[in-house]
Amino acid sequence: MDSKVILRGQNLRREFSSGDTTVTAVKNCTVEIAAHEFVAIVGKSGSGKSTLVNLLSGLDVPTSGTVTLLGKDLSTLSEKELAGLRARHIGFVLQKDNLVPSLTIEENVAAPLVMGGTRLSVALRRARATLDDVGLGHRADRWPSEVSDGEAQRAAVARACAGSPAVVFADEPTGALDEENGKRVREIFRRLTAEHGAAGVIITHDMDLADEADIIITISNGETTGRVDRRT
Ligand SMILES: Nc1ncnc2c1ncn2[C@@H]1O[C@H](COP(=O)(O)OP(=O)(O)OP(=O)(O)O)[C@@H](O)[C@H]1O
Ligand SMILES: [Mg+2]
Repeated sequence: MDSKVILRGQNLRREFSSGDTTVTAVKNCTVEIAAHEFVAIVGKSGSGKSTLVNLLSGLDVPTSGTVTLLGKDLSTLSEKELAGLRARHIGFVLQKDNLVPSLTIEENVAAPLVMGGTRLSVALRRARATLDDVGLGHRADRWPSEVSDGEAQRAAVARACAGSPAVVFADEPTGALDEENGKRVREIFRRLTAEHGAAGVIITHDMDLADEADIIITISNGETTGRVDRRT
């Protein structure tokens, strides 16, 4: 394996069955993502983007195929090991943000750091700095119910990025944002990949965000149909 490859999905397939119907949401998908790479996944609604990203991030388990993250085959890990790997090395921005309603914005951002073993005072300091990066320092002490959708989305981005994860996944991270805040989010992903060596895997319909990517992977009917490396 190329030592720079930090995430690999091989021959991924994911079927969803209910009753006697089966939907194949992802099939024949093989992707490799290296440190420093900023990858955009694009495709029509229903093409399988979220399913693929859920498989690559260990949120969901493939019907067949393997996912290797930082040299570990995810299927060989116990639930506890997988949770630990995810807490320490993965940041995730879901399509629908899922801030914990009983924690303040700042505590939401700090929570994964604390779960990964960082001391609370250090985690809160880092959370505050990352909130400043996404232009949300002034909302740190609010509850999720007291912020706008765009602010909640930026808080979710801050939460995913605060721990400098090895891989950050984001499903439509700029969907609810205006131009200025979309730019902030693009910059934070760019910095994470370029300066901190993370791999960024981002699903987007936002052409400005896709335009920042090093690699664009297109997906159609559950299959990857193209991979353009824009650096070459
Ligand atoms: N849990 C599920 N059970 C049954 N079918 C599912 C499930 N999740 C996804 N699908 C189906 O799999 C296909 C791919 O869905 P997916 O959510 O990956 O699409 P997407 O590309 O992320 O779309 P969007 O851009 O609308 O978010 C769709 O046809 C969807 O209906
Ligand atoms: Mg989706």
